[in-house]
Amino acid sequence: MRASAASVVSTLVAVIGQSLIAGAVPASSSVDPCAKIAGLEFAPPADALACLTSFPFNETLRQNVLDVVSKVFDFYTFEDYYLEPVPVFEQPAVYIRSELARINSTSYDSDYAFNKDLFDMVNSLNDGHTGWYPFCYWGTFQNLLPAPVISLEVNGVQNVYVVPNLVDVVNSLGANYTSHFESIGFDWQRLAGALVLEIGGMDAYDYADYVADTVTGNYIDHGVRINSVFSSYEINEDNEFQQRFGDIAGPLFPDQENLTMTLIPVGSTSPETVTIPFLAIADTYPFTDASSYWANNCAANNETNGVDYRTTEGKTESARTYARANLMKSSARAAFPSQLVPDLPMVNGSSGQIKNFLLDDNTTAVMFVGSFDPDDYNGFQNDVVSAVTQFKEAGATRLIVDLTNNGGGYVCLGEFLHAYLAGSSFGFPGYSTAVRANTLAQKIVAADIMLNNTEEVAFYAPDNWAFTNDTIMPNTYNYITPDVNSTIDGALYSESQRFYDVCTPWNVELPVDPPFDLNNVVIVGNADCASTCAQFSTLMYERHNTRVAVFGGKPGEVMQYKGESVGILS
Ligand SMILES: *[C@@H]1O[C@H](CO)[C@@H](O)[C@H](O)[C@H]1NC(C)=O
Ligand SMILES: *[C@@H]1O[C@H](CO)[C@@H](O)[C@H](O)[C@H]1NC(C)=O
Ligand SMILES: *[C@@H]1O[C@H](CO)[C@@H](O)[C@H](O)[C@H]1NC(C)=O
Ligand SMILES: *[C@@H]1O[C@H](CO)[C@@H](O)[C@H](O)[C@H]1NC(C)=O
Ligand SMILES: *[C@@H]1O[C@H](CO)[C@@H](O)[C@H](O)[C@H]1NC(C)=O
Ligand SMILES: *[C@@H]1O[C@H](CO)[C@@H](O)[C@H](O)[C@H]1NC(C)=O
Ligand SMILES: *[C@@H]1O[C@H](CO)[C@@H](O)[C@H](O)[C@H]1NC(C)=O
Ligand SMILES: *[C@@H]1O[C@H](CO)[C@@H](O)[C@H](O)[C@H]1NC(C)=O
Ligand SMILES: *[C@@H]1O[C@H](CO)[C@@H](O)[C@H](O)[C@H]1NC(C)=O
Ligand SMILES: *[C@@H]1O[C@H](CO)[C@@H](O)[C@H](O)[C@H]1NC(C)=O
Repeated sequence: MRASAASVVSTLVAVIGQSLIAGAVPASSSVDPCAKIAGLEFAPPADALACLTSFPFNETLRQNVLDVVSKVFDFYTFEDYYLEPVPVFEQPAVYIRSELARINSTSYDSDYAFNKDLFDMVNSLNDGHTGWYPFCYWGTFQNLLPAPVISLEVNGVQNVYVVPNLVDVVNSLGANYTSHFESIGFDWQRLAGALVLEIGGMDAYDYADYVADTVTGNYIDHGVRINSVFSSYEINEDNEFQQRFGDIAGPLFPDQENLTMTLIPVGSTSPETVTIPFLAIADTYPFTDASSYWANNCAANNETNGVDYRTTEGKTESARTYARANLMKSSARAAFPSQLVPDLPMVNGSSGQIKNFLLDDNTTAVMFVGSFDPDDYNGFQNDVVSAVTQFKEAGATRLIVDLTNNGGGYVCLGEFLHAYLAGSSFGFPGYSTAVRANTLAQKIVAADIMLNNTEEVAFYAPDNWAFTNDTIMPNTYNYITPDVNSTIDGALYSESQRFYDVCTPWNVELPVDPPFDLNNVVIVGNADCASTCAQFSTLMYERHNTRVAVFGGKPGEVMQYKGESVGILS
C-alpha cells in the first residue's frame, strides 16, 4: 500500500507531495506507456520509466511546487548549517536557495525529471527529516536486483558478497518475479554468496560509497549511510521481520536497467563479469493508462490538502499532537526467509514493533525494537511492560536492546523507553529543544493563541509544549516571540526559547528503580537508527554510560549517529 498521508507528515517540516497540486494533462500518444504496464505486479524498469516520464513538464506545477517547497524550507532549522561543509560527516555544503533558483530555471523533459532533480537536491541534505517525496514517482516502481549485497568478514577479511540466502530472499518475492528471469534466461540463483569484487566498474566498496552519497540520503554521517546500501533485517510496517534489499539492489526509482558486477561465484576461483537485470515492483494506486495513473497517483484530490482538525469531520480521535521523527525510506517487500526468524519463542509484548526473546541462558533478555512508530501509541508502552514483566519473572538479569534499522518514530516513545529502563527515580527522561522562529511559524503560534487552538488540534499550540521546569505552557503563552538570535555560518538565525516535550502522563506506571541494573543493559545495532532511535541511544549513552555495539559499515570507517539526534525538531 502507498504511505498514508498521516505517516508522511513526520516533523515540523511538512513533507509535501506533488499531490497538493491540481491535475495535469497526461501526454497523449498512440502507444500509452502506462497502459503497457497497467496491472502488472512487476515491470521491466525501462517500461516503468517510460510511463513515469510520459507526463510533460508543466510550468504551472513547477511554480506551485517551488512556492510551497521554498516556504517549507523557511521552517528548516538546519538551513544555515549547510552553508559550510561538515567534514566530520563528509557532508558537503548545500546552498538550498541557489539550488531552488537553479531548479526554477532549468529546462526539463518531463514532470518526472523536474521532480527527480528536486528530490535529489533535498536528498543530498542527508537529513531524513527533510524530504521531497513526489508520490507520483517515489517508490511507485522500486527497482529490485536479484542480487542484494552485504559486507561480510570471512577469515578475518571484509569483502562485499551477494547475500548467501539469496534463493530464499528472491523466491519470497513470488513467481511473478522469478518467472521474469526464467523467461529471459537469467540464472540469478548461482550468484548466491558470490564474492563481489567490482560493481558498476568500480571497486565494490567504492560503489557502496557512491550509492551512499547519491541515493541513500537520510543520515548526515556517511558511515551510517553505508549500512543502508547493504541488505539487512528489519521489522516492517506490518510488524513482521523482513530482509531489506538495501539501496544498491533496491533503489526507489526505476532509472537503472541493470548493474554489472565482477564476482567470483561460490565454487569457482576465477572472476567473471555479469550484467544483472533489475525488475521493478509496482506499488501504485490502480491505473489502466497514463490518464488514470495521473489521476489516481499524482493529481490533487479532496483528501490531499489535509483536513481541518478543528471541525468534527477533521480530527476524529482526541489525543495530543505528538511529534514524530521517523524516516521514509526504501523498503523492498521481500519476506524474511523462515529459517532466519529467531527460533526462540517470543515472550509477551511482541505483537507490535517490538519483538522480545529470552536467550537459552535464561538470564539474557533481547528486545528488538523495530521502530518507535507503532500503530498503537499506548500499546507500545503496554508491550514494554509485558515484556519486561515476563523477562523478570523468568529470571533475566541483563538486557540487549537491538535497534537495527530502527526507523525512529514518536519522540515521546523514545523518551518512554528511556524512562522505563531508567526508572521514575531518575527524573525527567528527555531534553530541551527549540523551533526556528521564521515569520510564518510566528504567525502560526500567534493564530493558535488567538483561536484558542489546543494541543489536540495543533502542533504549535503552546500547551503542546512545556517550560524547562516541566510545567505545560498556558495556551496564551507565546513561546516563539520574542525570538532568540544567533549567527550560524555568517547568517542571522532566529529560534524560539528552549522548551520540553510533553510526554506524560504515560499510559503505564513506571517502575521506581531500573528493572535491569543499567550496567547490564547494552544497545546493539547497525547505526541505521533514525532520529528518535538515535535520541534514545544518545540519552542511554550520555546519562547511563550504556555500551553501544555497532556492526556493519565499511572496513576502517567510523559510524556516528549524533547528527540525527540533534535533528528531531528540524
Ligand atoms: C499545467 O497544470 C495546470 C495545473 O494543474 C493545469 O491547469 C494546466 O492545464 C497544465 N498545463 C498543461 C499544458 O497541461
Ligand atoms: C502475478 O501478477 C498478476 C498481475 O499481473 C497477479 O494477478 C497475480 O496475483 C500475481 N501472482 C502472484 C503469485 O502474486
Ligand atoms: C521562480 O521564478 C519565477 C520567475 O520565473 C519567480 O516568479 C518565482 O518567485 C521563482 N520561485 C522561487 C521559489 O524562487
Ligand atoms: C544494460 O542497461 C543499459 C541501459 O542502461 C542498456 O543499454 C544495456 O543494453 C543493458 N545491458 C544488458 C546486457 O542488458
Ligand atoms: C472525496 O471524494 C470522494 C469521491 O467523491 C468521496 O468518496 C470522499 O468521501 C471524499 N472525501 C472527503 C474527505 O470529502
Ligand atoms: C531455562 O529455563 C527453562 C524453562 O524453565 C529450562 O528448561 C532450562 O533448563 C533453563 N536453562 C538454563 C540454562 O538454565
Ligand atoms: C503473558 O501473557 C499472557 C496472555 O496475556 C498472560 O496470561 C501471562 O500471564 C503473561 N505472562 C507474564 C509473565 O506476564
Ligand atoms: C478564546 O478564549 C478567550 C478566553 O476564554 C475568549 O475570550 C475568546 O473569545 C476565545 N476566542 C475564540 C476565537 O474562540
Ligand atoms: C515554570 O516556569 C514558568 C516559566 O518560567 C513559570 O511561569 C511557572 O510558574 C514555573 N512552574 C513551576 C511549577 O515552577
Ligand atoms: C532577531 O532578529 C530579527 C530580525 O533581525 C528581529 O526582528 C528581532 O527583533 C530580533 N530579536 C531579538 C530578540 O533581538
